[in-house]
Amino acid sequence: MTSHTARRLTLGALVHGSGGHIAGWRHPDARPDGQLDFAFHADIARTLERGRFDALFVADVVALWGHQLDSLSRTGRAEHFEPLTLLAALSLVTEHIGLAATATTTYNHPFHIARKFASLDHISGGRAAWNVVTSVVPLEAANFGYDSHLEHELRYRRADEFVQVVKALWDSYDDEAVVRDKEGGRYYDPAGLHTPHHRGEHFAVRGPLNISRPPQGHPVVFQAGSSETGREFAARHGEVLFTTQHELGAAQAFYADIKARAAAHGRAPAHVLVWPGLTPLVAPTETEARRRLAELQDLIHDDVARRLVQDNIGDLDLTDHPVDGPLPDIPETNRSKSRRDLLLKLAHDEKLTIRQLAHRFAAGAAVAGTPEQIADHIETWFRAYAADGFNISFPYLPGPAEDFVDQVVPLLQLRGLLPTEYEGTTLRENLGLPRPAARDRRLQETGR
Ligand SMILES: Cc1cc2nc3c(=O)[nH]c(=O)nc-3n(C[C@H](O)[C@H](O)[C@H](O)COP(=O)(O)O)c2cc1C
Repeated sequence: MTSHTARRLTLGALVHGSGGHIAGWRHPDARPDGQLDFAFHADIARTLERGRFDALFVADVVALWGHQLDSLSRTGRAEHFEPLTLLAALSLVTEHIGLAATATTTYNHPFHIARKFASLDHISGGRAAWNVVTSVVPLEAANFGYDSHLEHELRYRRADEFVQVVKALWDSYDDEAVVRDKEGGRYYDPAGLHTPHHRGEHFAVRGPLNISRPPQGHPVVFQAGSSETGREFAARHGEVLFTTQHELGAAQAFYADIKARAAAHGRAPAHVLVWPGLTPLVAPTETEARRRLAELQDLIHDDVARRLVQDNIGDLDLTDHPVDGPLPDIPETNRSKSRRDLLLKLAHDEKLTIRQLAHRFAAGAAVAGTPEQIADHIETWFRAYAADGFNISFPYLPGPAEDFVDQVVPLLQLRGLLPTEYEGTTLRENLGLPRPAARDRRLQETGR
């Protein structure tokens, strides 16, 4: 158990078997066969644990990861493990690293989610986290009987109620309520069991939950809202926030904005950690690192370049547009707003072709450089209050993860930014986040 008085760097890794770069799976050293290979994932988790990563994060959509099958067949995104199943298995081959799974509030029910994450938290000894998403990929809707997602605002209203119900369910039992007293014949103390009796706009959930309070009280809540509505949601509920800014100034602005919003909701800003994305390409020289990035970009097929732009901007068809030509005019859509705005601004400001825009998007948060340069980048952003930590996405696996752990992490430790050992037992403790009090329920109890 530890309490963090000093602000310290925290690190998470996004693990996707075929790698974070859209063409990463085609790299000569990539292991696309690892996508559905548990031993491959176990090795990566152990590598990250050796590098003292706080958390391993698995993204998810409840569909094939894209719009249509044309370009999808040219990416490594056609198949992936269900995150909670994978993380439950990984919890058995790791000891310290946090395990963050994505689950959508649009196509799930709060009771199932509360129960599954409580189970993962118990199985892992307090290492579970839930990345709360509202779903953005259109194919997901069709898998649940809908033509399209709920409208953006409504998705977040549902998410808000969803998270409140889940927290109330996690608090069904007080911490010490399950006594298992053989002598006295009491499995649990009835006074320590609380029934939420929730009735709201989207859900009616009586409760209580059928599992005792998670070791962390509540598994850590991850979130990546970025639009106005999304940021408000993140500031209310998120404890680790993924962000997408690639420039220091923009990242500082996001950081300040989200901390101010958290404070406005009565939360301690230090308990809302901001993690921009970072895709490190480490090499002995900067020139070599840049060459490695260019090599990856050249592996992006034309169909993928078009589709990458198309999928991230909205419902438009670029099939007949030359990939080395400009973007056509874009209509308003119900898709992820912040990402679309970011891309449109980029294309307009720099007069980019479809391919160039796709390359920018694929490069995303790539930082190519020597271990010292990558460590400098991390330190600069951390000290400039642009980041509390980073969500590190390796362009392909496993090589770049090993390079980062062997070459960059020791520098961060030498600089006193990252401890050499895990200091806490739970993910919350390692991240310096408080454990929610058992009776801190938002929902009204109306009796049992
Ligand atoms: C690093 C990162 C990871 C994300 N992971 C997922 C995911 O696994 N599944 C998903 O449906 N959305 C994911 N998202 C999308 C966000 O949940 C969110 O919808 C997006 O950032 C747009 O913000 P907005 O909803 O406020 O417009 C992710 C976003 C980021 C930046």
